[in-house]
Amino acid sequence: MKEAGEKIAMITAYDFSFARLMDESGVDVILVGDSASNVMAGHETTVPITLDHMIYHAQTVVRGAKRSLVLVDLPFGSYQSNSDVALASAIRVMKESGGHAIKLEGGREVAESISRIVHAGIPVMGHLGLTPQSIYKFGTYGVRAKEKDEAEKLKEDALILQEAGCFGIVLEKIPASLAKEVSASIAIPTIGIGAGPHCDGQVLVMHDMLGINHEFKPRFLRTYLNLHEQITGAVQQYVADVRSGDFPNERESY
Ligand code: KIV
Repeated sequence: MKEAGEKIAMITAYDFSFARLMDESGVDVILVGDSASNVMAGHETTVPITLDHMIYHAQTVVRGAKRSLVLVDLPFGSYQSNSDVALASAIRVMKESGGHAIKLEGGREVAESISRIVHAGIPVMGHLGLTPQSIYKFGTYGVRAKEKDEAEKLKEDALILQEAGCFGIVLEKIPASLAKEVSASIAIPTIGIGAGPHCDGQVLVMHDMLGINHEFKPRFLRTYLNLHEQITGAVQQYVADVRSGDFPNERESY
């Protein structure tokens, strides 16, 4: 798609029903993101989610996805210690979930692991810029690589990830000009989130773009629905109908 100049549309999903909706809507890639830790489990960060949880979410998504590529995040703690652990985690995801590829965060420090996972026959997507699993190192979810040193390191890391065998790289929350430069410098596609229009594709967290998570309004987010209002409105009506005795009526009874 990159070679053909076609943009890649990626979105997250964490369960069967929404995966089916995303798949039927024509997305190219469904990401079973470790953002499940936030939007499904209610944690403040992506740090607590486990490999078992990710495999469970991925299994349900795979059942709902008939045509899209299903990409599964390796969670924090399942690959950082060494490349043996990383390879074992990637193999578990592939064997137990039926997903098609894995994603992990980081640059040169995870290159050896990526190379071993790719050599084992597992497609890997990288993730640079804001890497939420390292939130306690960064301290904030602000824009990354605004300064020259960090931008240079990110450009080097993108080349290292390509060399290690990644089939694509997520670029999260970096200046649009840097994302443009990186996207032009590598042959594999970049998928941006908060990284401007020059990436080869875009990804959003489903709960954010559908307006379920209505308190989260970063500048990069486009909200396509206000599901929070629509769902609470519908459920309030149901509660009122039950309380008034209007539901169920004769036609809704046996
Ligand atoms: O977990 C996730 O949803 C992600 C996206 C933000 C790219 O990694």
